[in-house]
Amino acid sequence: MSTLRTEVGIVGAGPAGLVLSHLLYLEGIDSAVLENRSRQYCEERIRAGVLESGTVDLLVQMGVGERMKREGLIHYGIELRFGGQGHRIDFKDLTGRAITVYGQHEVIKDLIQARLATGGRILFEVEDVRIDGFESAHPKIHYTHAGQPGEIHCDFIAGCDGSHGVCRPSVPPGALTVYDRQYPFGWLGILAEAPPASEELIYAHHDRGFALHSMRSPQITRLYLQCAPDENLDQWPDDRIWEELQTRLSGGNDWRLHEGRILQKGVTGMRSYVVEPMQHGRLFLAGDAAHIVPPTGAKGLNLAVADVRVLARALNAFYSTGSTTELDRYSKACLRRVWRVQRFSWWMTSMLHKHEGNPFDERRQLAELDYVTSSRAASQSLAENYVGLPMDDTLLR
Ligand code: FAD
Ligand code: DHB
Repeated sequence: MSTLRTEVGIVGAGPAGLVLSHLLYLEGIDSAVLENRSRQYCEERIRAGVLESGTVDLLVQMGVGERMKREGLIHYGIELRFGGQGHRIDFKDLTGRAITVYGQHEVIKDLIQARLATGGRILFEVEDVRIDGFESAHPKIHYTHAGQPGEIHCDFIAGCDGSHGVCRPSVPPGALTVYDRQYPFGWLGILAEAPPASEELIYAHHDRGFALHSMRSPQITRLYLQCAPDENLDQWPDDRIWEELQTRLSGGNDWRLHEGRILQKGVTGMRSYVVEPMQHGRLFLAGDAAHIVPPTGAKGLNLAVADVRVLARALNAFYSTGSTTELDRYSKACLRRVWRVQRFSWWMTSMLHKHEGNPFDERRQLAELDYVTSSRAASQSLAENYVGLPMDDTLLR
């Protein structure tokens, strides 16, 4: 049996776990990360693509932003398309800020490289991860690696293991309150070898359902279609996907998507989910392990990064002064932002997706889109949430 001693044991090498580990390293705090997937799998897993300006600033300050600054695409607005017409939301004018389009898997590559280059310990392909002792001062993480059992003895555990991880379910029943809302639809997403047909993202409301045009580079388009939560991909040959995307994203004149080879296809369900509190004893939950947002506001990754920023500061305060005051405030501080982001993601989702049922709702949605795109106050509200609520301490009080 191998036994490892560290200050913070981190479960999960997603954005939350890796950003936390690197922030702690920069403060001189030791950590070890356990990940059940391979390094290659983590680096190729296609997920989110939009970084808020605060996330970008943090990655740059951490010294992991070089490639992102070179390859990321800076966008000063998005388009809302409905009734076949486009309406631009101008972030620069409305907020003075921008977003950066840079794939989550690229962020992961940069973080893994930075962690390993600075002596960080990440153990990939671990199995049977189990945590205990977090109600005492001596938490432990148990695992198997290459057939050998191992243990990590640490002061704190960070549960950064996503929505299907082991940390949240290890909290004793009754200690957490769950808030959950399922949506009756999902997204069918594709990555295509085709240049984006627009410089900016397009969120389209259409009577056949929502569609989104995004991108990863000047050669690669990322596209999504509203579908059933359990949609069978076998029913979606490439031709049908392109036809449906062309219909839902059509914008008058002869604007058309550029089509190309489909490199990846997948269906993602949609959920709003929060557990409270995000701490139990010396276990701290962060990112998708504590909350899930529907992807329409492009917030999942950004929220995970915001959580661990708070956690790293609280751990730093503990190791430099011995005080647990900031650690005790962790959950409350994060949940304020979490609920605001839940509200925004729910609102974007409700405004843009087709809901079966009362035709009143479709008319109301169109009125909402009309209002959001014609009132400066309403556009500004969308813009300030989309580019990201402040990452400074105004949300920590
Ligand atoms: P994760 O990225 O899930 O990282 C958790 C890590 O823990 C993973 O590497 C996992 O392999 C590991 N792990 C899990 N269980 C264990 C265990 N038992 N032991 C050890 N390691 C474990 N957001 C958007 O904004 N836009 C999108 O288009 C979008 N698409 C998504 C598509 C999918 C399929 C999913 C699942 C999420 C998507 N998201 C999207 C959300 C966004 O990607 C997440 O919010 C973000 O990844 C959260 O980061 P995290 O570090 O908290 O969790
Ligand atoms: C992307 C994903 C989102 O959920 C979103 O709202 C915008 C863009 C993307 O993958 O590029």
